[in-house]
Amino acid sequence: MDQTAPVLNGMLARHDPALEGSSAPPVASVIVKQAMTRRRPGAHIVVFANEKGGVGKSTLAFHTAVALAYSGARVLAIDLDRRQCSLSHTLNVRAGTDRALNVGLPSARHLVLERQSGPLLDQEIARIGSGTDFIVIDLPGADSTTARHAIAIANTLVTPVGSSTFDLNALGQTHPVTRQLTRMGNFGCLVSEIRAELLAHSQPVFDWLVLKNRSRTTDRRLEHQASEALSLMATEMNFRVGNGLAERIGFRDLLSYGLTYLDLNLIPGVGRRRTDIEQSIISLLAELELPGFANSGVNVGALPKQRGVMSSGNASAYASALQQHMNRQTD
Ligand SMILES: Nc1ncnc2c1ncn2[C@@H]1O[C@H](COP(=O)(O)OP(=O)(O)OP(=O)(O)O)[C@@H](O)[C@H]1O
Ligand SMILES: [Mg+2]
Repeated sequence: MDQTAPVLNGMLARHDPALEGSSAPPVASVIVKQAMTRRRPGAHIVVFANEKGGVGKSTLAFHTAVALAYSGARVLAIDLDRRQCSLSHTLNVRAGTDRALNVGLPSARHLVLERQSGPLLDQEIARIGSGTDFIVIDLPGADSTTARHAIAIANTLVTPVGSSTFDLNALGQTHPVTRQLTRMGNFGCLVSEIRAELLAHSQPVFDWLVLKNRSRTTDRRLEHQASEALSLMATEMNFRVGNGLAERIGFRDLLSYGLTYLDLNLIPGVGRRRTDIEQSIISLLAELELPGFANSGVNVGALPKQRGVMSSGNASAYASALQQHMNRQTD
């Protein structure tokens, strides 16, 4: 058999529940029929999904929610990763940091969906999603009925990926020598199936954006290969490709305080303000082309300039601990 020949035909049969066992999530046709029964919320739903773990779904969901909040949008964050709860934990920590510093950090309302199913997700969106402009949903790195439902109800689907071809396997695989696309990955198949079903039922279809996250200047060759593979997959699976956030220790450092680089503007004396990194977060938001942000995004000049008021001793102690921590990292 010619190893280089694309073997995409027949991939859509892969989610046959008979092959996967009775506990397998329903096939796309069932998921989409279920999704069609819900009442559509006014809010725009942005779903961060990739069955591959550790690619930056929660990190990018958090930065998106915060950047949207900075723009004045009302944001609800729903964490479907009830085992790790990374997004809701980080937003909780953010609220704690804000209480300690008393600076009025823009943020998002949030919840962890403990009991999960498609209808329960719809119910929570209907219950607390009203009066919200954007709903940011963070999925775990695994397939489930609720994850499939979230994809089906997305207006924008964001899939962060790592920066080597190995990191793209959930989307698709390419031949190491010819670089041809040889196989679609399970996640790529699933999203394609859901989209095909939505189209077949004349439903609105999500805008699918794959973001290259954690890129490093030292990995140019690997990143080039991955970018080539992504371009092939983008044509085959009909997604847009964009940039997430470059690899930076500073992102991780700030996340542990529930902060982003955007916040350093509001917190006197903590860390060096980095307008280039702020701009990369703003560019991330612009890449999503959300309603009201297409092409322009928010600009740094529009972010709040007001300095925080840190009157209490508690706030000063917290700020100086944070400052010491930030000064230790050189990134
Ligand atoms: N641009 C970045 N620079 C540095 N670290 C990053 C970046 N993006 C993500 N990380 C780090 O990578 C790790 C995994 O990120 P994250 O938890 O967001 O991934 P995930 O896809 O949500 O993972 P999971 O599938 O386990 O939910 C975290 O330690 C996070 O801080
Ligand atoms: Mg996560």
